[in-house]
Amino acid sequence: MFSILDEKVYKYREMGRTDIVDFGKADPDHPTPDSIVKRLQETAADPENHHYPAFRGSLFLRQHIAKYYKERFGVDVNPETEVLALLGSKEGLFHISLAYLQRGDIGLVPDPSFPAYNDGVFFAGGDILRMPLTKQNGYLPDLDALTAEQRKRAKILFLNYPNNPTGVLAPPAYMKKAIQFCTDNEILLCYDHAYAETYFDGNKPKSLLEFEGGKAAGVEFFTFSKSFNMAGWRLGAAVGNEEVINSLLVVQSHINSGIFAPIQFAGVEALEHVTHTDFLDQQRAEYQRRRDYAVKKFQEIGWDVHKPEATVYLWVPVPKGSTSMDFANLLLDDYSVVVAPGTAFGETGEGYVRISLTTEYVNVEKGIDRICAAIVKLAGVTTH
Ligand SMILES: Cc1ncc(COP(=O)(O)O)c(C=O)c1O
Repeated sequence: MFSILDEKVYKYREMGRTDIVDFGKADPDHPTPDSIVKRLQETAADPENHHYPAFRGSLFLRQHIAKYYKERFGVDVNPETEVLALLGSKEGLFHISLAYLQRGDIGLVPDPSFPAYNDGVFFAGGDILRMPLTKQNGYLPDLDALTAEQRKRAKILFLNYPNNPTGVLAPPAYMKKAIQFCTDNEILLCYDHAYAETYFDGNKPKSLLEFEGGKAAGVEFFTFSKSFNMAGWRLGAAVGNEEVINSLLVVQSHINSGIFAPIQFAGVEALEHVTHTDFLDQQRAEYQRRRDYAVKKFQEIGWDVHKPEATVYLWVPVPKGSTSMDFANLLLDDYSVVVAPGTAFGETGEGYVRISLTTEYVNVEKGIDRICAAIVKLAGVTTH
């Protein structure tokens, strides 16, 4: 789906259309902070760092991840046994199913969601049970809807809050319920915390590990990609339950051979120094400014769009009579705006497109104005 739109964007650019606004990518537009780049450069020059790295990640990085978890979330994790460095969180989110699922086991996958959960269960030979996230259920999987048979067969549940693509946070009561549900039914809870630092209005998301029973129930996936504008660097971590970390490590060690040491030093720089500057606040303020512009414009045309509490996304209903893909195509063909069709994240995404606010404010203004114009034209809503 993305590739069809990508090809079109490429073709249109070749044809000289220079004014395309890209809301399709989940890749932060601002550069990685200088000090992180510098740390990479310095450490890359040292031959000591040119060898195969440790499978778990360097103890130095793991200690800094543990320190960050203590400072940011107030939780204790043992850097020796409860932290595993990843080549980006995506690979861990995919491989965890290989570590936990046998053929015929069920993987519980929210729909819509980041595709790696679904794909991991599929490649592990598990049965995918998709759990709809709808406006009606607050974009929270309905755990009570599972039958006794499904609970018995389910071995893994993926949750991701702040949520891609809907932009919602999970209320603490829901997190407690999910932990209890997983504990009672012996289901591994995989908590994707990619947007831990991308929140608005001071609404700090909590870690799974802050909740009672959270560490016993599962593991959290953390990434440097979004918080520190390091999407291309490929650095993340699994944090939590020692047994889960060990199982994931076994799978990893068959597939990867660790992360280039200078990238791990760069991660240390991010956690040790950048978190103690105003960088994260500035990032949040910029994304919030973009979000506020978009939400205001949708309100002005009377279009019902959830105001995201976090992430860089808006989950926008498409006008009646259009599918997600139709609307995404129309926006690109006639309005020069790229969005992700909701169905790229699962069938429940039909009827929505995802806007990613990872482009400069002037582009956000331009792109959102064009989308609003398209909605007004198609849906006949009136501007206030
Ligand atoms: C919810 C979610 N989880 C994980 C990832 C992957 O992040 P990483 O770059 O760490 O692989 C993304 C990237 O878009 C994401 O949106």
